[in-house]
Amino acid sequence: MIKSIQANTAAPGGNACGDFPIAENLCEVISNEWVNAEYKHLVLKAPKVALAVLPGQFFHLSCPPSGNDAPYLRRPMSLYRVSVEAGTIEFLYKVQGAGTRGLATLEPGGTLDAFGPVGKGFALPDGARHVLVLARGVGLATMAPLAQYAVARGARVTAILSARSPALVMSEDYLRSVGAEVIVVHDQDGSSDIVHIEKMVRELHAGLPFDLLTTCGSNRFLLALQRLGKELAVPAQVALEQHMGCALGMCFACVRPFRKGADSEKMGYRRVCWDGPVFDAQETVTW
Ligand SMILES: Cc1cc2nc3c(=O)[nH]c(=O)nc-3n(C[C@H](O)[C@H](O)[C@H](O)COP(=O)(O)OP(=O)(O)OC[C@H]3O[C@@H](n4cnc5c(N)ncnc54)[C@H](O)[C@@H]3O)c2cc1C
Ligand code: FES
Repeated sequence: MIKSIQANTAAPGGNACGDFPIAENLCEVISNEWVNAEYKHLVLKAPKVALAVLPGQFFHLSCPPSGNDAPYLRRPMSLYRVSVEAGTIEFLYKVQGAGTRGLATLEPGGTLDAFGPVGKGFALPDGARHVLVLARGVGLATMAPLAQYAVARGARVTAILSARSPALVMSEDYLRSVGAEVIVVHDQDGSSDIVHIEKMVRELHAGLPFDLLTTCGSNRFLLALQRLGKELAVPAQVALEQHMGCALGMCFACVRPFRKGADSEKMGYRRVCWDGPVFDAQETVTW
C-alpha cells in the first residue's frame, strides 16, 4: 500500500529550497538488508510527495514494535537516497535501540509510516564548482544525497570518509558511482587525525577552491570546518542530530543554542527539526 495523507503546512521558516508539502506516507518495504554487523539499508516504495525530498532533509519514522519494545515516539532518519524514476526512498540506519530494532524487523511487502520530508536541508551556492563532504559512520547517510545532488548540478564533490578501520567504511562505491571523488581515512593508520584531514582540505582547496564545506554530527569535524571556513573564507554547513518529539516545530524538544551571527556573542535558541537540521557551521555551538 502506498498512500500519503498531506499536511496543510508550508516549509520551515527561511527554507532555501522553497515551499514543500509534508505528508504521512504509508510506504511499502522493498528491502531491508544488513550492510554490516551494525547497519541496515532500507528501501521503500514511496508516494510522489515523499520523492520531493532534498539532501539534508529527513523523515520521522513510525517504528514498529518488536520483542518487548514498543517505541512510542517516531524516530528521525535522514534521507540516504531517492530515485524519482523507481519511486523509492532509502535509509541507512544503525540498529541501536527500541526504534531501530523495530525497523530492523521490517520485511519486504510490509508497510512503514514515514512522515515527511521534514526540515531545512543543505543550501548549495549557485554555480558551486567544488563541494567538500566530510563524514564518519552513519553521518554518511545524511551526506550521500548532497554528493549526488551537487554532482548532478555540475559541481565536483570531494568526499572524505572517516572510519575506525577500512573494513568499516560504508558507501564508498555508492559515492564513486554518483561521481564523487572519495578519499578514505581511518584510525588504524592515523590518517583520520584531524590535523591530517585539515591539511588535505587546504591542499584540495589550493587545487580547486571549495565553494561549500559540509559535515554532519561530530564536534571534531564541526570545529575543523569552523577553522577552515574562516581561514579559507568558504561557507560551511553542518547537519545536526538531536532527540526529537514532534519534528514539526511545535514541542520544542529539540532546541539548541546558536550564535545569532557567525562572530556574534549573542545567543538564541533554534529548533533542530524545523530551523534545521542543517545549519551554518559558524553559528553552531559545539555540544
Ligand atoms: C535529523 C536526524 C537524522 C538522523 N538520521 C539518521 C540516519 O540516517 N541513520 C541513523 O542510523 N540514525 C540517524 N539519526 C539518529 C536516529 O534518529 C537515532 O539513532 C534513533 O532515533 C535511535 O532510536 P532507537 O530507539 O533505536 O534508539 P534509542 O534507544 O532511542 O537510543 C539509542 C542511542 O541513540 C541515541 N539517540 C537516540 N536518538 C537520537 C538522536 N535523535 N540524535 C542523536 N542520538 C540519538 C540515544 O541517546 C542512545 O544513546 C538521525 C537523527 C536526526 C535528529
Ligand atoms: S521535535 Fe518538536 S519542535 Fe523539534
